[in-house]
Amino acid sequence: MMIEEVTGSEVPMGLLLQADPSKEKVEGYLSRSRCFVAILKGQVVGACIVQPVSADVQELMNISVAPEYQRSGIGRKLLQHVIVSTRRAKVKRLEVGTGTFGYQLAFYQREGFRVDAIEKDFFLSNYDGPIYEDGIQLKDMLRLALDLEVELG
Ligand SMILES: CC(C)(COP(=O)(O)OP(=O)(O)OC[C@H]1O[C@@H](n2cnc3c(N)ncnc32)[C@H](O)[C@@H]1OP(=O)(O)O)[C@@H](O)C(=O)NCCC(=O)NCCS
Repeated sequence: MMIEEVTGSEVPMGLLLQADPSKEKVEGYLSRSRCFVAILKGQVVGACIVQPVSADVQELMNISVAPEYQRSGIGRKLLQHVIVSTRRAKVKRLEVGTGTFGYQLAFYQREGFRVDAIEKDFFLSNYDGPIYEDGIQLKDMLRLALDLEVELG
């Protein structure tokens, strides 16, 4: 598996819609973000999008792995690659917004992200229709943050 940085137009939209069902929102942040893709046997099987918020802060806007390749370590490698790359760029803090339940919470926290804040009703106010995961409606968003300045180890 290889990870490459590409332009937004090289990232398959279908992959990104898996993590964020709003095409409008995805198109909105894609052009001003850094885009990383995981490539396996010449095929893009995962993607991660990171948007600058300020000189010190970047936000992980989207991370997604094709269903048939999930649970094989690709997402974790992609996330770790993006963390290293962001830290190298002297960014101080990497943020991500996610639902208040589900495996994604552990996925991020395993790499050191910590809960920072809660945005009540985020998924109700920012999307046209209801979003369900595991049969539960997503309503509030947790903001997680990774301090990139802390000593590693
Ligand atoms: C989140 C996502 C990118 C993770 O990528 P992945 O390649 O499947 O993840 P990995 O194989 O590296 O898994 C790392 C760990 O995350 C957890 N995990 C990942 N997918 C999981 C699932 N479906 N159910 C339970 N735990 C899961 C596990 O703890 C896993 O480790 P393990 O397999 O050793 O138990 C991928 O599942 C995905 O594309 N999901 C749909 C889109 C999405 O929800 N994106 C995040 C938006 S906040």
